[in-house]
Amino acid sequence: MTDDVRGPDVKPAAERLYGRQRGHPLRPRQERLLDEALPRLRFPLDKAATPAAGFGETPSQIWFEVGFGGGEHSFAQHNAHPDVGYIASEVFHNGLCSLLTRLVPVGQEFTAPIPDMLRLWDDDARVLLKALPHASIDRLFLMFPDPWPKGRHAKRRFVHPQNVALVARVLKPGAVWRVASDDPTYQAWVEDVMAAQPFFDAPPPATERPEGWFPTRYEAKAIAAGRQPLYWTFTRR
Ligand SMILES: C[S@@+](CC[C@H](N)C(=O)[O-])C[C@H]1O[C@@H](n2cnc3c(N)ncnc32)[C@H](O)[C@@H]1O
Repeated sequence: MTDDVRGPDVKPAAERLYGRQRGHPLRPRQERLLDEALPRLRFPLDKAATPAAGFGETPSQIWFEVGFGGGEHSFAQHNAHPDVGYIASEVFHNGLCSLLTRLVPVGQEFTAPIPDMLRLWDDDARVLLKALPHASIDRLFLMFPDPWPKGRHAKRRFVHPQNVALVARVLKPGAVWRVASDDPTYQAWVEDVMAAQPFFDAPPPATERPEGWFPTRYEAKAIAAGRQPLYWTFTRR
């Protein structure tokens, strides 16, 4: 039972990993993208048990990105790997609109053909991760997660023992989990959490973005502000 009256898409703060879902007010084109294009591109939850069936064609692999922000990394990975089924998740409406803007020409929000191999998930990534079968995902990306630097917010960090077990459950043996962060508190936290878990090989991070990783907006801001990103590649045992 809950007496939370803030609406169905706002979860109690203790369970949420993210901040606001809306920033500046949306323009009419953005409203149309969310109302008309997003429903056509949304990963169908009723296909979660057989995720390959959620794409327009049978994918060679399935990759999952948590919190794509402006979507530049998802878009680049999708374009570079057209045979891979890519599930891109983000809860922030302005971020969803950024990626949708790249995918849907103006005026074609309702009619533009949707890419076969890209699906969006506009709820908490954990909801879909929980619904996916064991060992069904080939790669997972967590690029510059919200750092939640205050100790009392540590439960909201995506790299958290509970979520590490959740990610481990859906990844295939040998699958890779890529994580990047520029926040020193989060970096130390990732090292501690991953040193204490049994599911992944967790070698030390790279200090330069490795080959095959694509830049993100958040990373560019971090580097411009003089922060040093770290790039981890964890491999499912
Ligand atoms: C700091 S931003 C980084 C965005 C992007 N990856 C980048 O590097 O530019 C983190 C993003 O993760 C999203 N996010 C946080 N928790 C999430 C969750 N549980 N499911 C989906 N998205 C989430 C937030 O809305 C936010 O846009």
